[in-house]
Amino acid sequence: MAAKVRSRFVCQACGHESPQWLGQCPQCRQWNTLVEEVRDRVEEKRGTPDRVKNRNPKPIAIADIPAQDGPRIAVGDRELARVLGGGIVPGSIILIGGEPGIGKSTLLLQTALHNPHLKTLYVSGEESEHQVKMRAERLNGHSSAATDHCYVLTETNTQNIFKHIDAVDPDLVVIDSVQTLHTASLEASPGSVGQVRECTAELMRYAKATNIPMVLIGHITKDGMIAGPKVLEHMVDCVLQFEGDRDHAYRLLRPLKNRFGSTNELGIYEMRGNGLAEVDDPSQVLLGGRTERPSGVVVAATMEGMRPLLIETQALVSSAVYGTPQRSATGFDLRRLNMLLAVLEKRCGFRLGQKDVFLNLAGGFRVEEPAIDLAVVCAVLGSNADIPVPMDTCFCGEVGLTGEIRPVPRTDQRIAEAAKLGFGRILVPKGTKDLGSVRGIEVAQVAQVNEVLGLLFG
Ligand code: TYD
Ligand code: MG
Repeated sequence: MAAKVRSRFVCQACGHESPQWLGQCPQCRQWNTLVEEVRDRVEEKRGTPDRVKNRNPKPIAIADIPAQDGPRIAVGDRELARVLGGGIVPGSIILIGGEPGIGKSTLLLQTALHNPHLKTLYVSGEESEHQVKMRAERLNGHSSAATDHCYVLTETNTQNIFKHIDAVDPDLVVIDSVQTLHTASLEASPGSVGQVRECTAELMRYAKATNIPMVLIGHITKDGMIAGPKVLEHMVDCVLQFEGDRDHAYRLLRPLKNRFGSTNELGIYEMRGNGLAEVDDPSQVLLGGRTERPSGVVVAATMEGMRPLLIETQALVSSAVYGTPQRSATGFDLRRLNMLLAVLEKRCGFRLGQKDVFLNLAGGFRVEEPAIDLAVVCAVLGSNADIPVPMDTCFCGEVGLTGEIRPVPRTDQRIAEAAKLGFGRILVPKGTKDLGSVRGIEVAQVAQVNEVLGLLFG
């Protein structure tokens, strides 16, 4: 009966499987990442709970399948509902990833607590019952708000977890975190690629069979991948990424994949002393309270997914103290900053080669879209000349290698957001088609960086 035990080698970086050990993974080319995993076939069968086993699917005509676009489970939280595409689809698996300490546990526990109509089972493999209780008290502001709909289970064995789900029969299951789970059908340590994948597969089967939705929390590795392998992202229905700068209060919830909604949505939260608060008007919060903007500080009209967001862009240009000038960018791609500086030097004749240039986006945000280029350029020039840009002006536009300003998508939404926040003027690329019809704001179209200089600094 030797065939009962199978062994395979799994790459811990990408999930590639090989029948024999190899020094280098043939898929991701990393060294020493293959780890042996032993699988016992008898155990494998035992790993399937009865509710899943008793399910006996038969072919069914599409016309006879009841339309499921109906009820989504409401989650109360507007930001979470937005990124999920309305609410939680019954039987779906949602994976939420993020760096340790970013607030994943907080988000899910508060969702559980704030929805008394949902019986939730919070499976905690990382924190003790007592720790979860303390967090719950903090989230409820130490009030005696009803919490008897929310159950906590500190268990990491999937088979035991299924037994408890059967007993509690919750409306929602939260697993914190998927890296702590282990299944008896696989001889590998918790957190290894094989375990994470196998446990997720078991949870998937269970969720589909019982129609109980599950939210899995997953830590991301230093290179930004959830639980190491991409494999997991392919399995689940929805992948949300929770991100933000730990030194700042703002947190972004971004859908990377959603079988039931758009991935262009964005949820914005503020981490407070009593949990995460929804941010309705992020631009307002980000810009709030300034009565003047010193030189080098300008406002960019950017888009985060489908949401317009006005972000303060700050630059500091000063003479280099050391031989080699320093360049640093926070929230913006450093290579792109260097490119923009080269354009200013070569096309506009600014001598920035011997200057230190520091760039910073306020609020800990990170902007990838090139529409912020124009604001970066204006911040740099403003700081270099030490002339403030008029308070009521903001910017959007991509800057090309010849110093030309290129159109960017959804300009109408950017203009509308700027008008809403009381800006009197916005500089947009010449040739923009979607200018919209917002009144009360001057829309200046600019074609070249040189032109902008005249407009701003006279
Ligand atoms: P946590 O949810 O434990 O992060 P994760 O599960 O992603 O590892 O969040 C921990 C951080 O959040 C910690 O630094 C404390 C902070 N926090 C608050 O600022 N306010 C709160 O109400 C709570 C519960 C946590
Ligand atoms: Mg946690």
